[in-house]
Order: sequence, then C-alpha cells, then structure tokens
Amino acid sequence: METATIANHRNVTALLEQYALPSPLGFGQELAPIMYRANYTNGSWQGGHLCPFGEIGINPAATCVQFGQQCFEGMKAYAIEQSRPELFRPEANFARLTRSAHRLCMPPPTASLFAEAISGLTSALENFIPNDSGQSLYLRPTLIGLDPTFAVKSSRTFAFILIASPSDAYYSDPIKIMVERQHSRAAAGGTGSEKVGGNYAGSLQSTSRSIASGFDQPLWLDASTHEYIEELSGMNFMAVVNGELHTPALTGTILPGITRASIIELAGCLGMGVVERSMPIAELLADIDKGNCTELFATGTAAIISPISEIGEADGSTRKLLDVGNMSATIKSALLNIQEGRAKDAFGWMASATDSRKLLDRLEK
Ligand code: COI
Repeated sequence: METATIANHRNVTALLEQYALPSPLGFGQELAPIMYRANYTNGSWQGGHLCPFGEIGINPAATCVQFGQQCFEGMKAYAIEQSRPELFRPEANFARLTRSAHRLCMPPPTASLFAEAISGLTSALENFIPNDSGQSLYLRPTLIGLDPTFAVKSSRTFAFILIASPSDAYYSDPIKIMVERQHSRAAAGGTGSEKVGGNYAGSLQSTSRSIASGFDQPLWLDASTHEYIEELSGMNFMAVVNGELHTPALTGTILPGITRASIIELAGCLGMGVVERSMPIAELLADIDKGNCTELFATGTAAIISPISEIGEADGSTRKLLDVGNMSATIKSALLNIQEGRAKDAFGWMASATDSRKLLDRLEK
C-alpha cells in the first residue's frame, strides 16, 4: 500500500519545519499543523491526502451542522520507549467508528483509507509526539455529512477528517463528580453506545451545572429509572467495592470503552476480582458511607485512568473517597507500561502506527 499523498506539499513541509511543541501541552489544546482529509462522493471514498490544518469550508446547511450527522473516535499514538510510534488496539477504534457511522447512516471509511490516514499523519508528525509518561499524539478520526438540506434525510456526500493533538492526559488531578439526577445522557434504542457528537452536546449543560456546583463533571444514571449508574460524560466509571473492581455492565446505552474493556482484562490478570453488573447509585453511596466502597475512578482513551476524590449532589454536598488512586494506580501503571513500551505486550494490544500495510492487516483481521 502506498503512503498518504500530500496536497500542497510545500506548505505541509514548511509547516512541519516551523513547528515546535509548546509546553505545557494540556489535553487537546495544541492542534497539529497538518491533517488528513478524504471525501465520499458518487457512492465511494475518493483518494485522501495530508494537507495543512485549517478550516474545512462546509455548507451552513450541511447535515452535520443542521442535524449532527457526525461521529468520531479518540485514539493515541505513543512514542515513549518505542523506537517507532505505536497505537493501542486500533482495530477496536475502527470497528466502533464503523458501528457509529452505520447508526448515523454514513459510509464508514474503508480499512485501507483508515490505515493510510492514521499511518500517514502519524508518520508525518513522528518528531512531534511528546514522550513523557502519560503524553501521546491524540488522534481524532471524524466523519461528517456534507449535503445541504433542510429536510431530515441523510447526506450522500461525506468527509473523513483526521486531526491530531500532541497531548497530556485529560485530567492532571483527581476529579470530583456530581450525580446527575435531572437530565439523561442516553435512552434505550438511542445512540448512547455509539460515539456520536450529539451524545456529548446533550451532556454540556449538565457539565456546566456540575462545575457551577463545584464538581468537574456529571455521573449519568439510566434514563428510565434514574437509579442505575451508567457513565461519565466522556469516560466510563469504575468503583472498588469490598476490594473488587465493579463497573456498570454494558446495557446498550453506555459507550463500550476500549480502555474499559482493556482494564477489565488487565485487572483479571493482575488477580483482581472484576464484576460487571447493574450498579444502583443508592447502593454505591451507602457502600461509600459504610466504608465498603473505597475508591472510584474514570477510564477512557483521553483520561487513561483518572481517580475520583469526591462524589456529590447538585446542592454541593459531597462524599469523600477513602482511597484516591490505590487500586487504580496499580492498574494505570500496568496499562501505561504496555502502552508506553516498558512491559511485554502479552495481550497483543499494540500495533505499528506508521506501517500502513501492517496496520491494514490488523484492521482486516
Ligand atoms: C476519548 O477519551 O478519547 C474521548 O473521545 C472522550 C472525550 C475526550 C470526548
């Protein structure tokens, strides 16, 4: 397979020659100066290319603007101990993007387009992947509908865009979460288990309310009863109860996190008990009060593992956790050791980020 073609070669090369990583990085604040774009027209994906990062000129009546016909992924390329950058379970991101695209009536990128975009952009940005532990090149594959229409129907033209951000982890400190008892994130049959922008848009008001009450973000409960824990706004949720790891079972309204699934496997191998189940919020709060639940944490590609120090209510009342980063710290370092190339990758999770042929083989398996 060929490497990614470059539109406006001189500009791309000049942008990379002038580029330098700022410090500190933060999460998603620094946008790489180049990106990848491919268009879907006449029923198929056309050849994509690397190009300067910039505005993408879409029609104001496009379906992505008017109806949120959009989905995305979050992935990371790591270059800490590795000689060349590596990705974590890219086939899982590709599979989820494919599912999200189908749910929103969009054509997913082909495996070869996805492999070319990821390997092309990561290769071009290889010298700008930060290499302190917890840092990475965060990659955001995004699919949008482009046709202008006021009628509620699917677009027939689309763009696949890959942008990148040299980043730190999402949070640098333990977070405080607010139990969201007013709004819901996702209902049965909706798009809660797909990675679509609308899920996040619907969470923003609650995030603002949680911040106004002294928290970092809301903890979502199920839409029909408001009794069972689902997830955080951009992260899955885990608790240590009686020394075991508990997490809400996937119900169809929770995003099936790749970090979540990996932690479940990893924790099992570390000899920790792992329980996926329905988790009533009332029971969890009672377990914290009784000292049975000692630790809470958030998991996700961006977050990695973020300890939760407090859980509270909209009125500002909170409960403090006994442990902030105990069991979660053990799991986090086991996970980062694999992702950052310090430990043997016994699960076969890591994949070359720069070899498009190997990446394609992996996506097609
Ligand atoms: C990720 O963890 O990669 C996400 O996409 C969640 C959030 C930052 C939107």
